[in-house]
Amino acid sequence: MVISSVGPPRPGPEPTLFDAVGGAAFFERLVEEFYVRVEADSVLLGLYPEPEDLGPARDRLCLFLIQYFGGPTTYSDQRGHPRLRMRHHPYVITDDGRDRWLAAMLESVVVLDPDPAIAEALRQYFVMAADAMVNSR
Ligand code: HEM
Repeated sequence: MVISSVGPPRPGPEPTLFDAVGGAAFFERLVEEFYVRVEADSVLLGLYPEPEDLGPARDRLCLFLIQYFGGPTTYSDQRGHPRLRMRHHPYVITDDGRDRWLAAMLESVVVLDPDPAIAEALRQYFVMAADAMVNSR
């Protein structure tokens, strides 16, 4: 018998938020809801370089969130290091833009109705990150 196989199981890695929500489908639904709201907000929509085709933007946001919350790293495999602030420099993001973006995203979280602890973790991240994206005051 191999001695090292005896004894209590080693603790595995911490489950990620990606695992806790059941994987990619949650984020796909989240960004779907989010972009429905972007399309309905002419100020937000006006920031997008291709407002008539939000599909690629939706895919990039989805892959980024999957990666950020512990899922596959497809975003960086395709796009490189996130450098989110730098990638937002081409767009004028004011406090008003942040508030609109956040409202659309937090409403989408509410629609998906995850466990309260998950909803709170998402909220905290989105508030912090959206604030960091403001580049015009
Ligand atoms: C939690 C905050 C945010 C996150 C995580 C986020 C994430 C992203 C990601 C991953 C991309 C694609 C980057 C790329 O690979 O090129 C992106 C693009 C973009 N974001 Fe954000 N963003 C945030 C906040 C905002 C805010 C506050 C605004 C404006 C009010 C905004 C407007 C845009 C625009 C206009 C694009 C370009 C769309 C495109 O990719 O074609 N973002 N964002």
